[in-house]
Parts: sequence; C-alpha cells; structure tokens
Amino acid sequence: MLTLKQTDRIVVLTGAGISAESGIPTFRDAMEGLWSEFEPEELATLSAFKKNPKLVLDWYEWRIKAFVDKAIPNPAHMALVKWEEYFDHFTLITQNVDGLHIKAGNKNVIEFHGNIKRMKCLGHNHKFAWIRDGEEIPLCSVCNSMLRPDVVFFNELIDSENLQAANKAVRNCDVFFAVGTSGVVYPAAGYIEVAQKLGARTCVVNTDPHYPSSKRDPTVFLRGKAGEVLPNIPLE
Ligand code: OAD
Repeated sequence: MLTLKQTDRIVVLTGAGISAESGIPTFRDAMEGLWSEFEPEELATLSAFKKNPKLVLDWYEWRIKAFVDKAIPNPAHMALVKWEEYFDHFTLITQNVDGLHIKAGNKNVIEFHGNIKRMKCLGHNHKFAWIRDGEEIPLCSVCNSMLRPDVVFFNELIDSENLQAANKAVRNCDVFFAVGTSGVVYPAAGYIEVAQKLGARTCVVNTDPHYPSSKRDPTVFLRGKAGEVLPNIPLE
C-alpha cells in the first residue's frame, strides 16, 4: 500500500473524475439533453463564442445551474484539504472549472483551466464573477467589450502564471498524484511523466482499469472512486 511518510513536496493533479461523486458529469458526459447535438469542441472555443456568444453563454449558464451551483465537495475534496494542512509543500493543480476545491477549503489551488463562475472581457481580460442575469451578452464595465467565461477554451494557451507555477511544482516534487483525469489533454497530461523522469514517486487514482499503461508504469495505480481511495491513503 502506498504511504506518504517522509514526503516533503507533493503535487496533486485532479480532473473531472474527482467531481463525479459531487454530481458533476465528467467533461464529455455533460453533453446531454438539448446539448447532445453538440460536441464540446463546438462550444468551448473562442471561434464558437465569437460566432454565437449567446449559445456559448447559454451552455455555460446551463452547466452552472444544472450542476456547479448544486455541487458540494465530496470526501475526495475534503481529503485534499487535509493533505494541504499536513504537508509543508502541497500544490493542487486542477483541470476542473467547478471551483469545488476552493469551496472545500483548499487555499493553494492552480485552476489550470479557469473557473466557470468567473468571466473575463475580450478586450483586456478584466475579470468578474459570473454576471448574466437575463441580458444576452454582458459587457465589461471597464472597457465595454464582451464578457466570456474565464475558462481555457480548446486550443487556447494556459495562463502563463498558472503554467509557470505548475511546471515549477511538478519539477520539484517527491510525490505526484493524478486523480480522476483521463490524461489526454496537454500540458496537464504530460506532468506525470515529467515527475517520473525527475525521480518522483507517482500514483494514479482512477476508476478506469484501462488507464493508459504508458502513463502508469512505474506508477502505483489505485483503481477506485477518488472519494473512497483518497481518504484511506495513510499520511503517516
Ligand atoms: P475526463 O472526462 O476526460 O476524464 C475523467 C477521468 O476520471 C476518466 O479517466 C474516468 O475514468 C475518471 N473517473 C470518473 N469517475 C471517477 C471517480 N469517481 N474517481 C476517480 N476517477 C474517476 O476529464 P479530464 O481528464 O478532467 O479541458 O479532462 C481534461 C480536460 O479535457 C478538461 O479539463 C477539459 C477537457 O478538454 C478544457 O476544458 C480545456
């Protein structure tokens, strides 16, 4: 069994799987009902937003109301709050945009793909909490340009500060966990191999028994639900 004794620097990368037990469908499962006719790639892109901002904002607003606002952190999120309190150097990199790690109480969270409850303007990236009560396309109160979701759309670059902070933490960790992520979207997907190559112990927590083996060896693979596995990993 994996133990985290004598671990000083730990990085945890999380994906949609850690929020599944909070009722938030994984990224590609969310396309149900009236949205089933679309692929995420048709909605979560800057070109899609510029072509039809109302449609894209409607989709994000649906996700916020249908899932995010109702979601509460699950035992996996709570376990990582304990880990942050326990370890001297703990970095949490999340690909999720649902804000659940912060809601759970984690402080040092790198929201690698942004946060669905924030917006930013096309003009100068001025940031706002999600504000759209009825008007079709909210405008920036500073520069009057259109507001879009403050999330990383497909084919967009990761915020440079987030990228630097994540790269630094991964390159200096003793232990690296990938929790509830399919490991297909870069640069986050490449972190487990970077950590391995630099001598860190690596661990995958995932329900999928077919997690790509190339990313697994010599990783410890803990198959199961994050909400059941993480709380049972001994810290001592
Ligand atoms: P995915 O939906 O691609 O993968 C979710 C992973 O979680 C899968 O490997 C599941 O097997 C696993 N899983 C599901 N339920 C689980 C549970 N209860 N416990 C543990 N594992 C579980 O989501 P991500 O890997 O997060 O990017 O997707 C990465 C990125 O792809 C997203 O951030 C999004 C998308 O393109 C952007 O929006 C830029």
